[in-house]
Amino acid sequence: YAEDGYRLWLRYDQVQDPAKLKAYRQAIQEVVVPGNSPTLSVAQQELKMGLSGLLGKPVPVSQKPSQRNTLVAGTPASSALIKDLGLGDKLKTVGDEGYLLLTANKKGKKYTVIAANTDIGVLYGSYHFLRLLQTQQDISKLSLASAPKTKHRVLNHWDNLDRTVERGYAGFSLWDWHKLPTYIDQRYIDYARANASIGINGTVLTNVNANALVLTEEYLKKVKALADAFRPYGLKVYLTARFSAPIEIGGLETADPLDPKVQAWWKKKSDEIYSYIPDFGGFLVKANSEGQPGPQNYGRSHADGANMLADAVAPHGGIVMWRAFVYSNEEPEDRAKQAYNEFKPLDGQFRDNVMVQVKNGAIDFQPREPFHPLFGAMPKTPIMMEFQITQEYLGQATNLVYLAPMWEEVLDEDTYAEGEGSTVAKVIDGTLNGHRLTGMAGVANIGTDRNWTGHQFGQANWYAFGRMAWNPYLSSEEIAEEWIKMTFSNQEELVEKLEDMMLNSHETLVNYMTPLGLHHIMGWSHHYGPGPWIKDKHRADWTSVYYHRADEKGIGFDRTKTGSNAVAQYFPPVAEKYGNVEKTPEKYLLWFHHLPWDYKVKSGRTLWDEMALRYQGGVDSVRQMQQTWNALEGKIDPERFKHVQTFLEIQEQEAEWWRDAVLLYFQTFSKRPLPEGVEKPE
Ligand code: GCU
Repeated sequence: YAEDGYRLWLRYDQVQDPAKLKAYRQAIQEVVVPGNSPTLSVAQQELKMGLSGLLGKPVPVSQKPSQRNTLVAGTPASSALIKDLGLGDKLKTVGDEGYLLLTANKKGKKYTVIAANTDIGVLYGSYHFLRLLQTQQDISKLSLASAPKTKHRVLNHWDNLDRTVERGYAGFSLWDWHKLPTYIDQRYIDYARANASIGINGTVLTNVNANALVLTEEYLKKVKALADAFRPYGLKVYLTARFSAPIEIGGLETADPLDPKVQAWWKKKSDEIYSYIPDFGGFLVKANSEGQPGPQNYGRSHADGANMLADAVAPHGGIVMWRAFVYSNEEPEDRAKQAYNEFKPLDGQFRDNVMVQVKNGAIDFQPREPFHPLFGAMPKTPIMMEFQITQEYLGQATNLVYLAPMWEEVLDEDTYAEGEGSTVAKVIDGTLNGHRLTGMAGVANIGTDRNWTGHQFGQANWYAFGRMAWNPYLSSEEIAEEWIKMTFSNQEELVEKLEDMMLNSHETLVNYMTPLGLHHIMGWSHHYGPGPWIKDKHRADWTSVYYHRADEKGIGFDRTKTGSNAVAQYFPPVAEKYGNVEKTPEKYLLWFHHLPWDYKVKSGRTLWDEMALRYQGGVDSVRQMQQTWNALEGKIDPERFKHVQTFLEIQEQEAEWWRDAVLLYFQTFSKRPLPEGVEKPE
């Protein structure tokens, strides 16, 4: 059948390398997964299906080992063999969700072992084991342990109940509310499989801007059906909680978090939710931001609001993910400073089951942002990372952009909160301040398109998010390599070329959209295509001119002492670096500084020339990607080849559009010619 990308990275086609195939066939003569819990059954099915595909012949499943070379998966409770191996101490190190992959010899037989403390650990280990074969690794002497470094690895679907998806570019919402609760689409199962395969253990089904309807009984029954379908895969369901729900669906006159009636309403509502979904994960909340209601409507703080909901779900073990994406309607203050100003003073005031969910940067999922100053600034509060997997400001579904390098860049940054080495990753995994409640959220790029993500390469971003949430220290390079091998092929030349394409793709996009620290100059409201000329909207911080501040003299947002002084929100070494134009990395130049058009950058060129050449460089790199891809014709199935090829054509047009539009517009201020090497707009 057509290769439409539906199978994602879980393709399980026969291993191509003959020597590897032979070795795998020999090592795995049967699969033994004792026990019949729903999760172990899923592990067994996945191993059977995956291995039969990869080995190119049916792999028998037995209850007890009967061959010389057996694959055994289980916990000490489910498998006598695993119990007998005495893995106690080793298993202690991998916790509730981790696993061991081992090779063991016993009584003349050889066992390949997937061992864990829990059934879900067994399932995660099974996917890892399959990945070893998909990427053609040596499995003859396994001795490997893995455990997630964050606890809550959660997709945020910005899905509305009418199935439109806010900032979704891959069709409609997967959740078919009309046919729920009775009809369980196979798509839900494949979605859960994909998530389990990369360790994602939570999903927020509804948009942060959603109304309260999903909290009514009728919808909760549908949510229950999804939760039941996802449960064997370790995937917990969460919902967004509209702050004004007590008024809208509860008949109360207020949603004041300190009002006992409101508190009682949320407690009762939570009890009701848990009666349907005993392992409900909890709430995600967007409050007092972009018109959403919240505690401030009643003169209360974000902590008051979060704590009220936290108390309602606490008896059931639920959590609250309270978003820090707030900026006020009226405030003249630099938007980049507002979340920090609101939240930092609340450090220490949140309940134990609250996480504050912070976007990677202080504006809004731009192609590149310096890390958010809240990382490291609230040591008493668990801080959850929010990345955006859907490419709202990054070309949406038609641009090939591998996002992992951007995420890696943020996670690697040093906040200096507790001295040198206080990286954002350490804030997120809880090690910096000793938090046990940890997590990472990703705004999903998934929809009803057959290939799930619109662009075939969008799948890589879903994949990379899961892998980085499991381990924020993984490199974008190793994740790309895994994904390519699983999704396309292990053929060396192909892997090398695609890896190169993917690893350069983010910088390429930054160059043709927002080089040198420019930001938020996209089209009005939809954020698609260039719009640096956007001005005169009802709020300044939704215009482009607010962000680039170009005039005859120069360009850029002065966030140093002479400007908004946003740099002061960082710890001193960082504040000093960003406050000093000489020390500011060029990639953030115009984020922090307003500079004259003839300012000399590191290359020795003027700012204007450099900017123009960056835009041209972005276009050139897209053409380079096209060449690389086109040279792979015949090595990739024709369907996916053609799909990506045509998307790259769109991307080239868009890169040119960006270059021409932005340069022509800024030229009206700079009044300088385009430097040599920059194509003249037609
Ligand atoms: C962006 C996005 C909105 C979204 C908001 C949020 O501003 O454009 O659609 O609602 O982020 O994260 O809440």
